[in-house]
Amino acid sequence: MNYENTIASKRKSSLPDTHFVNGSVYTNKAIFQKEKEKIFFHTWHFICHESEVLRKYDFRTISFLGQPLIIIRGGDNKIRSFLNVCSHRGAKIIHAPSGNSKKLTCFYHLWSYNDRGDCISIPRENGYDNSNLKKNLCGLTELKTDVFMGMVFISFNEKIMPLNDFIGDSLSSFKNTLCSGKLEVFHYSKSTIKSNWKAWQETNLDLYHEWMHVLLRRTQINAGSMKDRKVQIMPNGHAVVGGLKAKYGSYKGINDRKTTKALPGLSSEDFFFVDLFPNFAILARGTAIRIDVVTPIDENTSLVEWRGLGIKDEDPKDRRLRWKHHNQYWGPFGRNVPEDAFAAEACGEGFINSASRYQIIAREENGTGQDDGMLRAWYKEWSKLTNVNINKP
Ligand code: FES
Ligand SMILES: [Fe+2]
Repeated sequence: MNYENTIASKRKSSLPDTHFVNGSVYTNKAIFQKEKEKIFFHTWHFICHESEVLRKYDFRTISFLGQPLIIIRGGDNKIRSFLNVCSHRGAKIIHAPSGNSKKLTCFYHLWSYNDRGDCISIPRENGYDNSNLKKNLCGLTELKTDVFMGMVFISFNEKIMPLNDFIGDSLSSFKNTLCSGKLEVFHYSKSTIKSNWKAWQETNLDLYHEWMHVLLRRTQINAGSMKDRKVQIMPNGHAVVGGLKAKYGSYKGINDRKTTKALPGLSSEDFFFVDLFPNFAILARGTAIRIDVVTPIDENTSLVEWRGLGIKDEDPKDRRLRWKHHNQYWGPFGRNVPEDAFAAEACGEGFINSASRYQIIAREENGTGQDDGMLRAWYKEWSKLTNVNINKP
């Protein structure tokens, strides 16, 4: 279908180039290939929290853009990540989501690897003598891996800038909390959504959509002070949002959160968050933290993973309260995250057959309230890396 919507065209022509995004950015296959190559296989990505591989030889397996990965804490306490594929005939080695093992043995012909990815045993190895194949040439493919404030990041790009430089000061508001050594992942859920991955990330970058969430209307828009919220645009496409206090008791059925139950370094009303380019968000809500990452499956389907962070080994009563606080907003049946997933899928429906040609990101409120500055900064970085014009791809 190729019809012209005259009103829409006029509306678009009144906007600066930085203030609207063409719909094909979400649906075009060639653009999606560029994103994979220039963004996902290029930069740093959060992969898990260190508490998920807490003890020596703990491992976690994850699929990232179709690549099976294994993240393992070595005997030297260093966390490493490898492609979870055997050097012999390419079989995926570890199928369990997590476990603990000094040795990773492939089920197919029993080749084994250690915690550093070295191939340490090949049954009837002398059968390879004539071909001159030695174990030391058969290690697993290691990815660049680093840990920042307890969060494990990987990169497929050997030449990527150091993780410290990539993140810079963007996570400093989380320092006292994430570096306390007291946190662990206490909630994990994931969902496949029918939408382009950017539509999910936009739910974290778009402050204006608070109007959609009844819970946020009551506890933030009507109860907080919008002028106190401040958006800070950071280097490398990241953004920091802080300043707003949530008033939980303003929603019938929800109690105010007690300061004694707040996470280290937070007050119970604190609500701030950080978006790291391209696909990561971390949100603090006094008594719980949420981390989410979105990775594309194809241009119209995405995987979103959510983690909740709470206090390690806490009293079961406190843990129940923290689950409750986490899930009121962010659980699979909460009044926040499922609504965001609905919004991302609704935008997907709008763009998929060009029913909607572009989206508007034109709100300006001097970096306070519900400014669209984060969306514009994010698309600026996206455009720089992909070399795609957001108005006329
Ligand atoms: S494919 Fe793994 S041992 Fe053969
Ligand atoms: Fe939302």
